[in-house]
Amino acid sequence: MGRYVLGVLSGLLLPLAVALVVIFAGRAPVSALRPSPVPLDWALHTAYERTVARQAQGLEPPPGFPAPAQIQAGAGAFEQMCAACHTPPGRPPTVVSQGLDPPPPEAARLLQYRTAPQAFWVIGHGVRMSGMPAFGPTHTDAERWELVAFLSHIAGADAATYERLVAQAQAAGAGHGHEHGPHAH
Ligand code: HEC
Repeated sequence: MGRYVLGVLSGLLLPLAVALVVIFAGRAPVSALRPSPVPLDWALHTAYERTVARQAQGLEPPPGFPAPAQIQAGAGAFEQMCAACHTPPGRPPTVVSQGLDPPPPEAARLLQYRTAPQAFWVIGHGVRMSGMPAFGPTHTDAERWELVAFLSHIAGADAATYERLVAQAQAAGAGHGHEHGPHAH
């Protein structure tokens, strides 16, 4: 019995010890260059998928979502805050988007594989160690739903659709001076 317990304990402690040695030896996979280790990729990706699915439960879009006014406001905000990482249709990838790992999904794909509540949660909370910022501290729920409304509208869209919406938003002054300090609202 004693041996059995000892075996289980060392089985659990050995991976922990190896991880600590790797970390203190300065050999952890910190670089954002591919390829990243498969087990790490798997763990982070699975944790992400499960967490986003659970956290989005019970979140409801506001009435009228996605309304044309929401889509337009979201277009201006997206162009200012998100387009450098989530490449819009027809645009070349930026130096920022090319250097991130995991790679940020393209704009037109952001809502192809996520529900609106899931996207809303990610926009508010960000994704640790991925480059995806949390916009919750600086934006109201209504503003985050506007971004989601825009993303749902441009899912699978072409360059002309994206540029037209952004031009309309800019003409209407939406997203103008879109820099929020903490507690701006
Ligand atoms: C500095 C780069 C960067 C900026 C700026 C950025 N994102 Fe992201 N975003 C990322 C990365 C990287 C991921 C992928 C995270 C992952 O897969 O773990 C991501 C993921 C997402 C996701 C989830 C996609 C999915 O399939 O799970 C959504 C939605 C999203 N971003 C929306 C936005 C919006 C809206 C903005 C602007 C308000 C924005 N992002 C700004 C880098 C960025």
